[in-house]
Amino acid sequence: MNKASDVTNKRILITGGASGIGADSGLLLASRGAKVVLADLNEQAGNELAEKGQADGFEIYFYKVDVTDKASIQALFAYAMETLGGLDVVVNNAGIDHNPAPMHELSDDDFDRNIAVNLKGVWHCMRAAIACMAGKGPGHVINVASVAGLRSSPSISAYSASKHGVMGLTKSAAVEYAKIGLRFNAVCPSFIDTPMVRNTMAKIDERAQKAIVGASPMRRLGQVGEVSAGIAWLASDESSFMNGHAFTLDGGMLA
Ligand SMILES: NC(=O)c1ccc[n+]([C@@H]2O[C@H](COP(=O)([O-])OP(=O)(O)OC[C@H]3O[C@@H](n4cnc5c(N)ncnc54)[C@H](O)[C@@H]3O)[C@@H](O)[C@H]2O)c1
Repeated sequence: MNKASDVTNKRILITGGASGIGADSGLLLASRGAKVVLADLNEQAGNELAEKGQADGFEIYFYKVDVTDKASIQALFAYAMETLGGLDVVVNNAGIDHNPAPMHELSDDDFDRNIAVNLKGVWHCMRAAIACMAGKGPGHVINVASVAGLRSSPSISAYSASKHGVMGLTKSAAVEYAKIGLRFNAVCPSFIDTPMVRNTMAKIDERAQKAIVGASPMRRLGQVGEVSAGIAWLASDESSFMNGHAFTLDGGMLA
């Protein structure tokens, strides 16, 4: 009998894999028998996670990458292809946010940085993934976007623009490459309890903190495990007819 959401021996690359959603997804997938490369700017945290996973008997590796640097991305994909012997799933998860501010007060630097990491980084990683996976059987690219890529997000306009862009790339690629067996989907979480959100919470007043928690009708932040479980299902063949989709994990926020 097949295991539910089987990812045994799937070769999976996850960017932003040293923290939060990426780290939890990497460890979950590796614990279920996938072969995982975690990639991140944060070398120390990434190496510690890979060592911990290996000590638990998982096949998991770390490689340092800066997703704003095309050469660094090319080196990462070459490493993953060599180490895993190919790629079945690529999870483009590395991302940043910016301090909340009205659009006209947001700095050019915040805008440029969010586009460079969250959108252009995903663009380069998607193109590298396509080059590695085309002609080698089914492949799946999972982009971690956000509910901010699906609706208005007052005071985080640059972040929202970057994530709307990720949705455009995801849907266009889904249609362009379906004929060669590649699928592209996006995961769109609402507020999840990760270092990114904890950092934001630390900078805002109590009223704004309550607004973040209350944005979901379930009146709580999501947990990383609730996103990793979705990513793990997407990475399995059970998601085989899903393509070009925004997989929303938001406790009902967009309902
Ligand atoms: N936490 C949330 O509420 C939430 C909601 C929706 C979407 N997301 C998205 O989920 C993804 C993961 O976020 P998280 O909450 O786990 O955040 P996190 O800050 O815990 O992890 C993000 C990781 O990305 C890495 N990173 C940042 N810039 C990079 C770069 N240039 N190159 C390589 N790695 C880089 C960081 O080092 C970090 O390890 C992001 O794309 C984020 O936008 C998060």
